[in-house]
Amino acid sequence: MANENSSVKDLKDFSELVSLCKRRGFIFQSSEIYGGINACWDYGPLGIELKRNVKESWWRSMTEREDVEGIDAAILMHPMVWKASGHVDTFSDPLVDCKECKSRFRADQIEAAIAENKCPNCGKQGSLTEPRHFNLMFKTHMGPIEEEGSVCYLRPETAQGIFVNFLNVQKTMRQKIPFGIAQIGKAFRNEITPGNFIFRTREFEQMEMQFFVKPGSDMEWFEKWKAIRKEWHLSNGIRKEKLRFHEHGPDELAHYARAAFDIEYEFPIGWQEVEGIHNRSDFDLKQHETFSGKKLAYFDEQEPDKEKRHYLPYVVETSVGCDRCLLMILADSYRDDGERVWLQMHPKFAPYKVGVFPLMKKPELMGITEKIFNDLNGGFRSFVDASGSIGKRYRRQDEIGTPIGVTIDYDTISDQSVTIRHRDTMEQERIEASRLKEYIKDKFENWT
Ligand code: GAP
Repeated sequence: MANENSSVKDLKDFSELVSLCKRRGFIFQSSEIYGGINACWDYGPLGIELKRNVKESWWRSMTEREDVEGIDAAILMHPMVWKASGHVDTFSDPLVDCKECKSRFRADQIEAAIAENKCPNCGKQGSLTEPRHFNLMFKTHMGPIEEEGSVCYLRPETAQGIFVNFLNVQKTMRQKIPFGIAQIGKAFRNEITPGNFIFRTREFEQMEMQFFVKPGSDMEWFEKWKAIRKEWHLSNGIRKEKLRFHEHGPDELAHYARAAFDIEYEFPIGWQEVEGIHNRSDFDLKQHETFSGKKLAYFDEQEPDKEKRHYLPYVVETSVGCDRCLLMILADSYRDDGERVWLQMHPKFAPYKVGVFPLMKKPELMGITEKIFNDLNGGFRSFVDASGSIGKRYRRQDEIGTPIGVTIDYDTISDQSVTIRHRDTMEQERIEASRLKEYIKDKFENWT
């Protein structure tokens, strides 16, 4: 395999990826013609295909189970939701400014510099302000009048849309505990130190699932979901040695969490969180009961003790950033052997599954090319590239992660066979065109 060759290099830093993503239509800076806007990115034609494939893979893994339902809640919610959830009062980062160079820092990231009261950027002594708490929620106003009573927030996590719908979903779908609710959607955070490409942005998508369980069984489910979620990342082809768990210590735990583990990936910037698995206890449901005045208890008809039949379930949450997961897939699949760059990603994520190449742009080859393209494109999103040398065309598809190339040449006219070229090994083989679909299906289903 090409990637077992020691001359094959991984990603050194994000700059190579940023440039590939722009060059090949994956990700562009938002509002680029105006100089861009900090920490916001636009997905281009290939980026959106990749992103849809990530979401599809997550959605299917979560909702093709009898015990998980899906929803799509509104981004704007009643402002009391955020009071109840604790986000208005506690969802903040400590912020420190340098009075000299005007740099801004998260206090928890420059503890040594604060102890010395020395700016880590300009080195000026005594220039740092006292840490002050900065709420990360974006505030806006609902309706035409901007007054205190019209304040609402762009949601900083999708989870609250699930908590407030817990009984709606449970009753309409006649679910019994334990069961979960899954959702994919945008979230917004006015991050103090965004950056590292799409790693930390101010607008991003989350793929979250809240699993409601009987109190007492929460740690058992917490362990189960930890294992399921890690297995999902492995089944996506992410290298095992690049994934690990990180347990939150008491000083790291979010205000709602009783226990928490991150799934971390070793990015070029070091080990970083990709997904959080949290035991949120009954914190959120209890808060919403208190603030809304509505009962949110679950009626457990299987509980033998009548007194204990009504209870607030505990919640095990799995929360993965879609954009961060996509960045991990790109970073993990990036390969460079000095001669070519390719994205060795699982075919389920590849924007195109097959590149179709007529050896020359001649009518006698274009007719067969079109026929093969039409035949493949339904099941396997394909792309015809007829311009430039065949080597350059292969390289273009390698850079966007297309796993299979199919070349149509003059022999195809006489023997109806085509050349298959594999992205990762560059190996080629000749097969009958009529077997193509079956061959590719089999290859993808047994991908290793
Ligand atoms: N509901 C729980 C929750 O939101 P979190 O650890 O704050 O937990 C979960 O976020 C995931 O969302 C993170 O693991 C990360 O993948 C993603 N995420 C959080 N903030 C992000 C940001 N500013 N930019 C991109 N992704 C982010």
